[in-house]
Parts: sequence; structure tokens; C-alpha cells
Amino acid sequence: MTSAPAPRVRPRRLRETPALRRLVSETRLDPAELVLPVFVREGVTEPMPIASMPGVVQHSLDSVKQTVTDAAAAGVGGVMLFGVPETRDATGSCGVDPNGILNVATRVVADEVGDAIVVQTDLCLDEFTDHGHCGVLDALGRVDNDATLERYQEIALVQAASGSQLLGLSGMMDGQVAAVREALDGAGFTHTAILAYSAKYASAYYGPFRDAVESTLEGDRRSYQLDPGNRREGLREAMIDIDEGADIVMVKPAGSYLDVLADVAAASEVPVWAYQVSGEYSVIEAAAMHGWIDRRRAVIESVRGIRRAGADGVLTYWATELAGWLREGT
Ligand code: PBG
Repeated sequence: MTSAPAPRVRPRRLRETPALRRLVSETRLDPAELVLPVFVREGVTEPMPIASMPGVVQHSLDSVKQTVTDAAAAGVGGVMLFGVPETRDATGSCGVDPNGILNVATRVVADEVGDAIVVQTDLCLDEFTDHGHCGVLDALGRVDNDATLERYQEIALVQAASGSQLLGLSGMMDGQVAAVREALDGAGFTHTAILAYSAKYASAYYGPFRDAVESTLEGDRRSYQLDPGNRREGLREAMIDIDEGADIVMVKPAGSYLDVLADVAAASEVPVWAYQVSGEYSVIEAAAMHGWIDRRRAVIESVRGIRRAGADGVLTYWATELAGWLREGT
């Protein structure tokens, strides 16, 4: 007869009861660190479902009020607003028009919940341009970095004036943080903060989002978003943005880039957030619909993994629902 030696070290000891596991848990989730992305569509009176994102809708200017009120009531920390306009043009004029859909929606939301929750806006051109790129194009059809910076500066002032407290710079142009900071400070918006989408990768996981904003993009964004194979470059982008004055830096998508997130979290002097993007949402929803995965457990685990890797805050389409679960004591 063989007899195995008794283990000297027994890590299982701390896993024995729910109370013990709760006591020694290293990563807790809190509704306050969650941000809900919200789409507002021009010209609709009812919320419109988004086929590739079951459970997420394009809101009307009226229905958005309830959604942000619910988010605030659940303890969610902020909302990130995206606008879906009825008409688009080459330079994305609707982004700088105070009556453009995103700016109107910002005023509505700031009015509704501005005291309770941080109102944030996507600062980019892709929702507003007819070609769907995140910048304006030059004569050869390439995305013109420096001409785009001037557009971002104009948009920043309109968004700040509309009541956005935190501008989400998602366009991946070089120098965008410095350009927007300078414009804001020059116009007296010294209190308006900048969230830099610093390490934003050219990802297949944005697919459903492009449905959500009815993107007209042909081609891809690989000339400005990061190559998914590059880890060091993600950290470099975050360091550049901090140097340019970013108040918060972000890694996006989240789940496939946890190494980059951990690198940035280890090196950053400012808060680090991650965006659990549309495709990350939809893959779990789709698997859950088939009964292939336990939806609630998968959602919690996915966000927890992002926090564990180092994110201080997480943008997630499950923010309100997850906040509700956390309050139940999941
Ligand atoms: C660009 C922007 C995108 C997302 C947020 N801001 C799309 C893109 O770069 O194509 C994606 C968010 C998501 O997929 O949930 N303004």
C-alpha cells in the first residue's frame, strides 16, 4: 500500500466556507467604479433595439432620462454618452453643433442626473462623419491627424459647455490629449476632465457597436488604432497621454488585453480604466441565450477579471444590472 505524505501547506483551508472566501477575497466590485455607455438617437420617439446587442437600445431623448436615473439609483458611477445623428457629413459638423444630438442629450442627462453621477461624452468624429472615420480625411482619403485635432478642440468646447464633466477621447489621433487640454483651458473649462482612450486596439470586438451607431465605415481603423499584437506600445500610448495631461487613461477592449491593462496599472500615476466593449458583451449574451453559459456568473467573472488585472473603473453595458446584483450581495 502506498501512502501519500500529508500536505504541509493547505491553501484550501481558506476556501472552505462562503464566509471565509468572502473574507479573503482580493478583488471586490463596487457599483461606484462602473460606467454605463448609453446611445441616444436623433429623431426617434421610442427606444430602438440594437440587433447585435440584445438588451441594449438606442434611446430617444426622452427614454434616456429613465435609463440614467436607474443607473444613478443603482449607484453606478457614471454614464458615457454616444450620439447617433440622422445626417452625417465629411467633417462631422453635428459634433460641433450645440443642437447636434450628442450635445442635446448631454444637456438632458446633465439636467436629470448631473449631481448624482458623472456625465461623460464620447469625443470623436466617427459617429458624425459620412465616411465613418474617427477623423477628417485629406485629399488622398487618408485620416488627417492634425486637421482632426482642430475638430476635436471645437467639439471639446461644445461638449464641455453642454455639461459633460469628463471627455472621452476615443479617436486615437497623436497629440489629441494635449490639443483638447489646451483648448479647454484657453476657454476657461479648466475643471473639465479628460479620459484618454490611450491603448485602443483595432479590434473585431467593436462590431456590435458599429451597428449601435449605424456606422458607415468602409475599410478599417488600423492606421490609427493599435495593432492587437503590440503590448509595449499600449503602455507607451498611456504614458504619452499622461504626459499630455490625461486625467484618466484607458485600455480598450478589456478582456483580450488584460496584460496591457496590468502594465498600464503598474506604471500609471492616474486612474486606469478599461472598456468592456460591445463584442465582449454580445458574446456572453449570445452564449447565455443558447444556455451554454451561466449569464450572471459569466458577467460577474468577466468584470472581476478586468478589475483584478488592474482597472480602477470599468465601462460596461451591464453596469446597472451588475450594480443591482452587487447590492444583493453577490
Ligand atoms: C469610437 C468608439 C468606438 C467605440 C467607442 N468609441 C468604436 C470604434 O472605434 O470603432 C467602441 C465601443 C464598443 O465596441 O462598445 N468613437
